[in-house]
Amino acid sequence: MGRNRLLSACQETDKVLNFENFILEFDMKSHNICVVGTGYVGLVTGTCLAEIGHRVVCVDSNKSKIRYLNAGKCPIYEPGLPELLKKNRKAGRIAFVDSIKDGIQHKGRRAQVVFIAVGTPPRPDGSADLSAIEAVAADVAKRMTDYTIFVDKSTVPVETGEWVKKTIERINKRGVPYDIASNPEFLAEGSAVKDFMNPDRVVLGVSSKRAEKVLREIYAPLKGPILATDVKSAELIKHASNSFLATKISFINAVSRLCEKVGADVTDVAKGMGLDKRIGPSFLRPGIGFGGFCFPKDLEAFYWICNKKGYDFKLLQEVQAINKDQKQWALEQVSELLWNLGGKKIALWGLAFKPNTDDMRFAPSLDIVEGLKEHKVKIAAHDPVSMDNAKKVLKGLTFAKDPYAAAKGADCLILVTEWPQYKDLDLEKVRKSMRTPVFLDGRNLYDPAKMRKLGFDYRSVGRP
Ligand code: UDX
Repeated sequence: MGRNRLLSACQETDKVLNFENFILEFDMKSHNICVVGTGYVGLVTGTCLAEIGHRVVCVDSNKSKIRYLNAGKCPIYEPGLPELLKKNRKAGRIAFVDSIKDGIQHKGRRAQVVFIAVGTPPRPDGSADLSAIEAVAADVAKRMTDYTIFVDKSTVPVETGEWVKKTIERINKRGVPYDIASNPEFLAEGSAVKDFMNPDRVVLGVSSKRAEKVLREIYAPLKGPILATDVKSAELIKHASNSFLATKISFINAVSRLCEKVGADVTDVAKGMGLDKRIGPSFLRPGIGFGGFCFPKDLEAFYWICNKKGYDFKLLQEVQAINKDQKQWALEQVSELLWNLGGKKIALWGLAFKPNTDDMRFAPSLDIVEGLKEHKVKIAAHDPVSMDNAKKVLKGLTFAKDPYAAAKGADCLILVTEWPQYKDLDLEKVRKSMRTPVFLDGRNLYDPAKMRKLGFDYRSVGRP
């Protein structure tokens, strides 16, 4: 009974906020958990694990971030997260410390499970930098006093678990029992809390029945199938999934180019493909390319590890090439629409790599701005949420206070990120304020017929 109520509470993010009363009724085993790393994955994981009833201590070596979190603030823009943080801090289920020492032994409680959710940034050769994973594993291994499960949450190449094991073996001279596990996280930014609470699947790559039992207990309150595999397979599931999703996007983007050449409509083509259950409708939205801190770097890292192991996974390179082409395509459209670009004003709507996030990492807007700057155009940009982050990485452009101000006097407007609020703007007012009403819709947010009726010289991706 309690479980059913708990499960139905998981259905939507806003309902997740009302979790507390359910959790007490549900006969679950609460664990002491340490989560190392408070980036998107670590912070969401820690907060959601607390929300489903575990006692969580989050560790980050960035002292100012820990101070910020301890002051009750949320360092990232993620719908639903600030509320959950506040609630679980108040309930005493989540704490933030700046050392692993304090993380694995907190207020007399020892964490048996340590989730490693530190960054694995790309190196110049495309491989993932795993030095933070090694450092955390070594630090925990040095301090563990009893059975500990090292769970990798970060996206890592296959065989990282083996390296973690070797690292622990070198340090663990006293023979403290331990296990390694891989539990990749599939949450997407902007819907992270909802994704964590309503997983399509929970993947547990385990090396023993003991570790599997503990991890199954941890995830027991969540609905969604649990797939237990060996550690290497779990590591591969994450890279293969992200690469496959990126492949779907590049595929439909390539199809959109053919649609333009023959006058077909890619929206209908995608719909027709997606109705086939074997293909499915998601990740078939064409646009000016995928960005973010996952797809671009995971494709690179997956390609790198495949090569290292002796397989040249050429398809992944083509997926990246098509993605790069889409941004080039956008720049070519602007040139085609405006002829000479020098001295003209271009307005950009949306800078974040997708809506509902303030994340600018590998955002398509970065390439578009760089490309435009080569033509010495004036750029005015707006984003509802990511403007502070954008100012740190984009120079030489004006940041407008609202989308209308960005469009004023522009020769061309490019919709880069499909924030839903852009859909409800007074487009008549926008058109009147522009110098020339040229509109490049890089995300197919608007209806072509309506836009043309409004008087725009309108172009979108793969639609007549
Ligand atoms: C992704 C995966 O979805 C998630 O499972 C994984 O854990 C991390 O990487 P994220 O990068 O947060 O999540 O965003 P996602 O919603 O997947 O979008 C990634 C990029 O693809 C965005 O730039 C988005 O605009 C683009 N995209 C997505 C498309 O261009 N078309 C689509 O159909 C879907």
